[in-house]
Amino acid sequence: MKEYISKNELETKKIAYEFAKTLNNNSVIVLNGDLGSGKTKFVNGLAEYFKVSNLVCSPTFTIVNEYPVKQSEKVSYIYHFDVYRLNGSDDFIDSVGTDYFDKGLCIIEWGNIIKDILPPNTIYISIERISSNDNFRKITIYEKGDVLV
Ligand SMILES: Nc1ncnc2c1ncn2[C@@H]1O[C@H](COP(=O)(O)OP(=O)(O)OP(=O)(O)O)[C@@H](O)[C@H]1O
Ligand SMILES: [Mg+2]
Repeated sequence: MKEYISKNELETKKIAYEFAKTLNNNSVIVLNGDLGSGKTKFVNGLAEYFKVSNLVCSPTFTIVNEYPVKQSEKVSYIYHFDVYRLNGSDDFIDSVGTDYFDKGLCIIEWGNIIKDILPPNTIYISIERISSNDNFRKITIYEKGDVLV
């Protein structure tokens, strides 16, 4: 487990950028954290590393946005999910399905909602506000296989 303190949006993106170097087409990442904690900013940092510059919006209404990656040997697609509006994993299976998980790098905002169907290699990340300052966040990256409860 790795813990970071981010003092602003840029630092969150930098932490994500460094983390991105460890990922491949089988990676499944869950981002947990309150509304507005910085999950999408973290995804923006990953996207910068993979040179997907137009990855800016949250797929809240579409559930998944799909981005081809051209400049990486390890990742060919990024699938960015936001499952906030789903009621649980049955809902996810009905609307999206699990085929994505080994087709590319999957990043799932609010992924705890569907954690019972996520693969064992899923990496959980939590982003929490720290009370001392509006912009401070604690970012915890758990080890593969460490399920966040
Ligand atoms: N340290 C920080 N890291 C990330 N974002 C920060 C930080 N400090 C302030 N912010 C601000 O917090 C907001 C985070 O928004 P973002 O859309 O990334 O949140 P989110 O967790 O994806 O929310 P949602 O649950 O609605 O999808 C942005 O407005 C950003 O500028
Ligand atoms: Mg978001």
